[in-house]
Amino acid sequence: MKEKALLLYSGGLDTSVMIKWLQEERGYDVVTLTLDVGQEKNDLSAISEKATLLGAVKSITHDSTGRFADTFISMGIMSNGLYSDKYPLSTSLARPLMAELAVKYAHENACGVIVHGSTGKGNDQVRFEVSIKALDDSIKVVAPVREMNMNREEEIEYANKKGIDIPYGGKYSVDENLWGRSVEGSSIEDISKPVPADAYRWVKPLDEAADSPKEVAISYENGIPSTLNGKKMTLKSLIIKLNELAGIQGIGAIDMIEDRVVGIKSHEFYECPAALTIIDGHKYLESAVLSRRELKVKKFIDEQFSEMVYGGLWHDPLMANICEFEQSMNEHVSGTVHLKLYKGNIIHSGLESSNSLYDPATSTYGKGQTFDQKMSPGFIYVYGASTVASRKARIKHFHEIRLEE
Ligand code: ARG
Repeated sequence: MKEKALLLYSGGLDTSVMIKWLQEERGYDVVTLTLDVGQEKNDLSAISEKATLLGAVKSITHDSTGRFADTFISMGIMSNGLYSDKYPLSTSLARPLMAELAVKYAHENACGVIVHGSTGKGNDQVRFEVSIKALDDSIKVVAPVREMNMNREEEIEYANKKGIDIPYGGKYSVDENLWGRSVEGSSIEDISKPVPADAYRWVKPLDEAADSPKEVAISYENGIPSTLNGKKMTLKSLIIKLNELAGIQGIGAIDMIEDRVVGIKSHEFYECPAALTIIDGHKYLESAVLSRRELKVKKFIDEQFSEMVYGGLWHDPLMANICEFEQSMNEHVSGTVHLKLYKGNIIHSGLESSNSLYDPATSTYGKGQTFDQKMSPGFIYVYGASTVASRKARIKHFHEIRLEE
């Protein structure tokens, strides 16, 4: 009996070529797994049919958008997950989920091998392989793109030879899910030029963005958006709606020179209208409901979360501790933020929360204030004592105070 390999199958050129290659060059029986994580073109049954046509012994499809939103994106929101303060980790967050499902279906279908379509130069190979191995170290991982070392032209030639029809892919390498769209390659590789207009799909370039502002109200419950403009929604449908609303306003385009885990700098373009809007609103709400120290510690942990997710370490045990911390901080993050979306800007336009720590009676410069200003001199005396004393002791370094003219 032939050994069975489970292939993470998108229906695209790379993974279609792989179905044949795995059968013919490696002698595997191929089981394909196609996952819906909210990508734009996701006719799962057509993809599954294609897999069978190419000789797969079984083709499995699975809609994982709900779990992607409720577990992975939710943690991304609670942790203000942005790699290098810019990229909302859309591709990064989907990979550990895909790895989990690959392991689950590999077990159910007696596959000792999992195959993915990532190259040997990117982050995704790291994310898939660390996750798969962390979940089941006995599974063998095969990455044909890495092994075959074929370029796109050679793949097309191979596809033609084997009678594989070539799906329309455009010139860019694109990865999509609910949380965003990642675009790489082709003319984006020239960093001396702006990202070309044809790379945009979800976001209107600024000159085409709507001419009037759009106001949105987002309510968060324990850190997770639950209503949009007063309408209760699942996180998944709220994200879909906001991708549309914010994209029209020119929000969500991210152009960055990125540091990959494997030490390569790359030029990346992302479109993440909902993600940027939701994280911005979340931080806005946090600024009112968390204390100064909580914000400071949380910022540090948020960054560790982002680095670990980006670097494929979702299944590291430390991640569970980070998630617990984030969840407990987010117990305070409930309330509504009002945002004005206009020409690529997210403008804060008011917030309400019963957990707000902002107290107008203490902060007002107007009537009825309750803060006892007479206590401040004593505080300043003690607080500044070390600065005053050390300056005095080292006065010889400063000579006299000279004011710049
Ligand atoms: N650089 C991004 C990341 O590592 C996106 C990679 C997505 N792949 C693609 N084919 N565009 O998360």
